[in-house]
Amino acid sequence: MLRIVETKPYPDQKPGTSGLRKKVKVFQQPGYVENFVQSVFDSLEGFAGDTLVIGGDGRYFNAEAIQIAIRLAAANGFGRIVVGQHGWLSTPAVSALIRALGAFGGLILSASHNPGGPDGDFGIKYNIGAGGPAPEKITDAIFARTKTITQYKTLDAPDIALGRLGEVKVGAATVAIVDPVETYAKLMRKLFDFEAIRGLFASGFRMKFDAMHAITGPYAKAIFEEELGAGAGVVINGVPLPSFGGHHPDPNLTYARELYDLVMAPDGPDFGAASDGDGDRNLIIGRGQFITPSDSLAMLAANATLAPGYAAGLKGIARSMPTSAAADRVAAKLGIPCYETPTGWKFFGNLLDADMATLCGEESFGTGSNHIREKDGVWAVLMWLNILAKRKISVADLAAEHWRTYGRNYYTRHDYDEVDLSAGNALMDALRARLPALPGQSLGGYKVQAADDFAYHDPVDGSDSKGQGVRVLFEGGSRIVYRLSGTGTVGATIRIYIEKYEPPTGDLGQDAQTALADLIGLSRQFCEIEKRTGRAAPSVIT
Ligand code: G1P
Ligand code: ZN
Repeated sequence: MLRIVETKPYPDQKPGTSGLRKKVKVFQQPGYVENFVQSVFDSLEGFAGDTLVIGGDGRYFNAEAIQIAIRLAAANGFGRIVVGQHGWLSTPAVSALIRALGAFGGLILSASHNPGGPDGDFGIKYNIGAGGPAPEKITDAIFARTKTITQYKTLDAPDIALGRLGEVKVGAATVAIVDPVETYAKLMRKLFDFEAIRGLFASGFRMKFDAMHAITGPYAKAIFEEELGAGAGVVINGVPLPSFGGHHPDPNLTYARELYDLVMAPDGPDFGAASDGDGDRNLIIGRGQFITPSDSLAMLAANATLAPGYAAGLKGIARSMPTSAAADRVAAKLGIPCYETPTGWKFFGNLLDADMATLCGEESFGTGSNHIREKDGVWAVLMWLNILAKRKISVADLAAEHWRTYGRNYYTRHDYDEVDLSAGNALMDALRARLPALPGQSLGGYKVQAADDFAYHDPVDGSDSKGQGVRVLFEGGSRIVYRLSGTGTVGATIRIYIEKYEPPTGDLGQDAQTALADLIGLSRQFCEIEKRTGRAAPSVIT
């Protein structure tokens, strides 16, 4: 039975680029989820009788939020609601399902790589029919609606059994509980040479995949262990847990340290990989060789045609501005464009839709392609496996060969978390003020070629984005980039990206922090980090 419930607005329901993200306790307030989901539906048009996909990363409060969302979707007139079994769907799988079903859109319940549990984070994001996050026009409309909402529509209907595959009726809508992996795996089979990868594992290639007790466990077990024959035990932390086992499900060198140490050991596996809470990020490590996400994008691009889905070649490559220029060198050699976009996956969507770019990536462990409209962790791992299987080469050898061909962009990111907000803003303002005088100056032996506050003109929709980060570009291809995080929750997070280009004839085998030591020193001195923030060293180094 349809029920209209009177409600009062919550003032803090502004969705960012990754949807609405708050502490679990905030989402648990009465009507909080209902208000936001109703505001989403009120901001959309023409979905009566259409399909909505719903799934999440299994974190604490996932199942409760999904039950609420199902009732609201049915009450608001969706005809078919497709939900991952147990409420589970990775972010890339939601994108794949929306596209495969020709659905109207989807709701993703996740806070990505943020910790979960009763004191952790939760989130709700709406994705459009193309499979990607809602554009600003929609998120602005949602936010406006949250401020004026007076009622939501729901049904007097009991919770449904999320574990039971099959269809049930909720009001007039059909709710289909589907295998969370099936549609996604089918897409992967189309893109990659599974036969070759099976051969790789059959030849004794050893891998470890750390699912970090988050959503990729079921995907990795079904695809790597079972279908590709990697064998039991390849997936570690493979059961999604509401609190991610107390871990921080962010696959970087700090939070995936256990995997890193395992794979870097002399007798370690040939290949290690990890993914984050909702399955869109990836970490790639070969025995003895960590691959930076920037290098990964470049190496995948250089070898992409070995995967059946990319055999026809790439239309272009896109990378976020702070991502190293390694991919630019590959694009130049392939004679295809390389687009430099502001930070955030949404800027890639237009380029992918317009078929101007095929692969895209960010230094923050995000890599993907035109197969969906989200970054995709398991996809990146399969792309690597496909290439290694075809090339019959180790990760370290492939990297060494790549650098001998293109040169090496030594790269690191230093984060200063929870800095005082006004100190962070003052630091950026001071940098901006110095920009005009920089070109031609010599800083610590590096000659400044150009310096700017990065701006992007979208070649597809003509929009302009300004103030996207301070770039100091040196002669010879090295650079320092400064920006404030747009996703931090406490104070300001200052990110400093340091990159040094070493030509093919140079010393290519150094440890990155060593190779970058002088530029790191310069990066701190130049922005007066210690004087302005009281921090002598970063909180996280990747
Ligand atoms: C961070 C990453 C960025 C990524 C975003 C969402 O944003 O740096 O590449 O797109 O998370 O996953 P930031 O905190 O730097 O604004
Ligand atoms: Zn994520």
